[in-house]
Amino acid sequence: MTPAQSYSATEPRMAAVIDGKALARTIGEDTARQAAALHERTGVLPTLAVVLVGEDPASQVYVRRKVKETKAAGMRSIEHRLDASIGEDELLALIASLNADPFVHGILVQLPLPRQIDATRVLDAIDPTKDVDGFHPVNVGRLSTGIGGLVPCTPLGCMRLLDTVVRDYRGLNAVVIGKSNIVGKPVAMLLLERECTVTVTHIATKGLPDIVRTADIVVAAAGSPRLVRGEWVKPGAVVIDVGITRVMDEDGKERLVGDCAFDELGHAAAVTPVPGGVGPMTIACLLANTVQAAKRAAALG
Ligand code: GUN
Repeated sequence: MTPAQSYSATEPRMAAVIDGKALARTIGEDTARQAAALHERTGVLPTLAVVLVGEDPASQVYVRRKVKETKAAGMRSIEHRLDASIGEDELLALIASLNADPFVHGILVQLPLPRQIDATRVLDAIDPTKDVDGFHPVNVGRLSTGIGGLVPCTPLGCMRLLDTVVRDYRGLNAVVIGKSNIVGKPVAMLLLERECTVTVTHIATKGLPDIVRTADIVVAAAGSPRLVRGEWVKPGAVVIDVGITRVMDEDGKERLVGDCAFDELGHAAAVTPVPGGVGPMTIACLLANTVQAAKRAAALG
């Protein structure tokens, strides 16, 4: 697909809304089938261990959802909830025991961690074959050299959403807004792997609107509500909105807002909504990664 060429300026068009909820459901059903088949064939029940340190309310919500959906997919969920005052050594000892446990296939340490804990040391301590978040340097290196491994869940979700509307990525201009290790950098690597021409922008980028105007694909992951305006987006572009910020509207009601001005994107070829776009895909891809890790463990006996 070449989105820019498919647009005629005289022809008003409605952007397709990519339904992340529906796609996540489909992926979830497929993952559940794979988990059941693996269990039946080998006796291995894909198991995800989630570690939550402290009482960050958003993290608690995310972890609750991850646990619930793991169980709903017929997989085993293990939860470790640790006090916010825990020492780094204690957390590292827990990771070591999960690494050594043959019945655990995926380990996820919910971020952010309390200040006294060095998150890099903790993530580096996770066995790369169980690193279902794809944050370990071995998996980051594998992604950047294009040799497989476990890929971070939100970027994977972005690609699955893009795959529903983009058939041929070769030579398309992709602009990624945000250079985080969790989304911006890995999604840029995945787009590069598909032979897009990738530009990664960030807080210090000059002339962002003009850069975005060159994009056939926009991935917005800046965490800045309604940063990307309609006039920045080329007609026929595909827009993936990773941002999700809680804001108060005029009536004092809380609302979730993306990084893109969704209502101004009617001239795009396709856009993801917030909520209901990228959000549901992250957990779906986490469970898919866990089954991938469990299959690998089963194959190695
Ligand atoms: N905190 C916010 N997003 C994530 C994520 O994708 N993985 C983990 N482990 N923590 C997070």
